Formats: sequence, C-alpha cells, structure tokens
Amino acid sequence: MNLTRKEIKELVVLDALCFDPPINYTFRDMKLYTRHPEAVLLREYDGERLIAFCLGHADNGNIITIDVHPDHRRHGLGGKLLKTILKEFRSRGVPFAVSQIALDNLSSLTLHKNLGFEIRHILYGYYPDGSAAYQLVLPLSPDKD
Ligand SMILES: CC(C)(COP(=O)(O)OP(=O)(O)OC[C@H]1O[C@@H](n2cnc3c(N)ncnc32)[C@H](O)[C@@H]1OP(=O)(O)O)[C@@H](O)C(=O)NCCC(=O)NCCS
Repeated sequence: MNLTRKEIKELVVLDALCFDPPINYTFRDMKLYTRHPEAVLLREYDGERLIAFCLGHADNGNIITIDVHPDHRRHGLGGKLLKTILKEFRSRGVPFAVSQIALDNLSSLTLHKNLGFEIRHILYGYYPDGSAAYQLVLPLSPDKD
C-alpha cells in the first residue's frame, strides 16, 4: 500500500511511544513495511488522532507490530486489532500467524497467548540492540471465525 508521508509519520510517532530506540521503527522501516505488496494495516482513530494500529504481511503471516497509545491501553483495542488481522489472514488462506515479542513484554505475550499463540523459538540477537525475542506461532484454520 502507498501511504502518504503524513500517514507514515503518524505510524512512526505512535510507534515511538510504544517502543524505545533502537527497537522503534524509523520512517524508512515503516515505509518499507507498509509498501510490502501484501501489507495489511488496521488503524483506530479517536477523532483525527491515531490511537492504535496493527501491521502485518499476509504472504508469510508475520505480524510486524501492534501499537496502542499508552493512554488507550487495557480497553480491548490491542485484542480487537489482533483478532481482526487474524481474521483477514484466514480469509486470505494464510496457514500460520507469526509474532516476534521481546522476552520481557508480558502484556504482548499475554495478549497473544490468550488468542492461542504458542512460543516456538527464542530468536537470540533479534533486536538492533542485540536482545532476544520469542517467536510465537498460531496455526490458522480457514473455517474458524
Ligand atoms: C501489547 C499491547 C498492544 C496491548 O494492547 P491493549 O489495547 O492494552 O490490549 P487489550 O486491552 O486488548 O488487552 C487484551 C488482553 O491482553 C492482556 N494484557 C494487555 N496488557 C496487559 C498488561 N499490561 N499486563 C498483563 N496482561 C495484559 C490481558 O490478558 C488483556 O485482557 P484483560 O484486559 O481482559 O485482562 C499494548 O500494551 C502496547 O501497545 N504495548 C506496546 C507495544 C507492544 O509491545 N506491542 C506488541 C508488539 S508484538
């Protein structure tokens, strides 16, 4: 998808509220990820203000990120976005959804595990600062809601 500079900037600004450097995505990263031919981007606004988004790639089921503004957490937005992207993946016949999550990110790990994701691997040195991530996988059956 081809987002405007303003739209990409909006995603980058929210991502910087969700992740500290060097984990957060740069403008260039976000442009590349959103330009992917099978990018799926779900956005939630409060009026004009972007308060949450989820970005994934339907060719490999990779969930790039789920970002909820700190002022809007624990109101079900992250769960809603994750469920919606999984539904979209299923409708496109994607066999597995995959997420990479920092070992200490308990909120995201809980969110994913509640929806059936299971830890498959530890990816050592996954992040730019050298820290590790869990890789979680969820098999997607096409008939499930
Ligand atoms: C992880 C994140 C997306 C969750 O978004 P959210 O809108 O707050 O999540 P929800 O309100 O939908 O929560 C759904 C469930 O996830 C779990 N959860 C969410 N935040 C949690 C926390 N801080 N501690 C423990 N469990 C948590 C709970 O089981 C929760 O259900 P409950 O509220 O009924 O107990 C949000 O905290 C965030 O943006 N974090 C920073 C960015 C990030 O880490 N993204 C994930 C990258 S993989």
